[in-house]
Amino acid sequence: MNELTDLTAPTPPAPAAAVAWPQDRTCPYHPPSAYDPLREDRPLSRATLFDGRPVWVVTGHATARALLSDARLSSDRRRPEFPVPTERAAGIRDRRVALLGTDDPEHQTRRRMMIPAFTVKRATRMRPSIQRIVDGLLDTMIAEGPPADLVSSFALPVPSMVICDLLGVPYADHEFFEAQSRRLLRGPTAEDSMAARTELEDYLGTLVDSRKRDAVPGDGVLDELVHERLASGELERAELLSLAMILLVAGHETTANMISLGTFTLLRNPERLAELRADPTLMPAAVEELMRTLSIADGLLRVALEDIEVAGATIREGDGVLFVTSVINRDESVYDDPDTLDWHRPARHHVAFGFGIHQCLGQNLARAELEIALTTLWERLPGLRLDAPPETIPFKPGDTIQGMLELPVTW
Ligand code: HEM
Repeated sequence: MNELTDLTAPTPPAPAAAVAWPQDRTCPYHPPSAYDPLREDRPLSRATLFDGRPVWVVTGHATARALLSDARLSSDRRRPEFPVPTERAAGIRDRRVALLGTDDPEHQTRRRMMIPAFTVKRATRMRPSIQRIVDGLLDTMIAEGPPADLVSSFALPVPSMVICDLLGVPYADHEFFEAQSRRLLRGPTAEDSMAARTELEDYLGTLVDSRKRDAVPGDGVLDELVHERLASGELERAELLSLAMILLVAGHETTANMISLGTFTLLRNPERLAELRADPTLMPAAVEELMRTLSIADGLLRVALEDIEVAGATIREGDGVLFVTSVINRDESVYDDPDTLDWHRPARHHVAFGFGIHQCLGQNLARAELEIALTTLWERLPGLRLDAPPETIPFKPGDTIQGMLELPVTW
């Protein structure tokens, strides 16, 4: 094992009273060094948000799993006391977020409808088509020759094409919905994000209305929802649209970031890469370990509905609670030598896909995509390497899902 090479080897800052969250990473595959005080303060610490509001930060692995399963914490972003992570998010707080932004029992009813589309069995059935998508994109990259930007030519189109396949959305429209999701997740202003949401909703609405007219339904999830749930009255049109929207948005941005950041991390840790290439059966374990180390969804938010006694403290009703997954997934009491990449450790119980009722619905699909994408990438491009000094390659800011903005490669 070797310690993950730190790009900048930053000096940790002096511990502050409460860490300001979120912060930009200094090295894209390590938590920001500014979170070091959180790593020393387990299982519960404090942080302040951009507006100065203090929140509880869950930093211990066992406490995180217990609290993420606790119905006294709400995910409903429309509650006035729900913590707001950024100024931009403050402007869109009254928007309805399907599944992720709802509590049980409403959440459970909707989630049950979606489960058949996201089982391990369904993900396994999708493997051949994922493999075809990955092969096709690599064929194009190879035909065009090096160099390439791995984000735009591979990391983003793989999950985009897969989610189109699953939902039954035409891939020809991918530029449109990728651009709208980008604006929705990190548009320059709240107004811009809201406008993007409306455009996506209109787009999906037109699609749903045309599917309703089809005498023979297609085999995508959208068709299932239209012909079974909408027709039976279990779902209203607006709800169906918000479910389709979260699948479209959550299904490609996250996985794309894992492919780009996972590739960058492997290229920067050549011994681990060599071990993986020598024994590709390690890939499923490597995907879990990369998920743990990279923790790309690095902050899950909740609000307390009642007083909760935990770890000798009282979280009061109305308090904001933040789960910093990069810190939780490096809890030394669970993971020996947590800053080290190790394909042989049992990493699967990380919280990078969340935990409890909101645990990622698409995790089986994401795992299949990551395994196939990363395995095939090195089979087809054994000489893959960075085409720019690593410290010049831009990665995403701390207030969004972590990943690479560009990844210049050659082979
Ligand atoms: C590597 C890629 C992915 C990562 C890191 C990821 C991460 C997460 C996390 C952390 C949550 C829980 C959020 C919370 O508790 O607040 C979540 C929920 C969710 N994810 Fe993913 N996700 C990924 C891929 C996907 C894919 C491919 C899909 C769909 C096709 C998807 C759909 C969802 C949905 C619908 C939820 C909400 C579930 C619920 O509230 O019941 N995700 N994801």
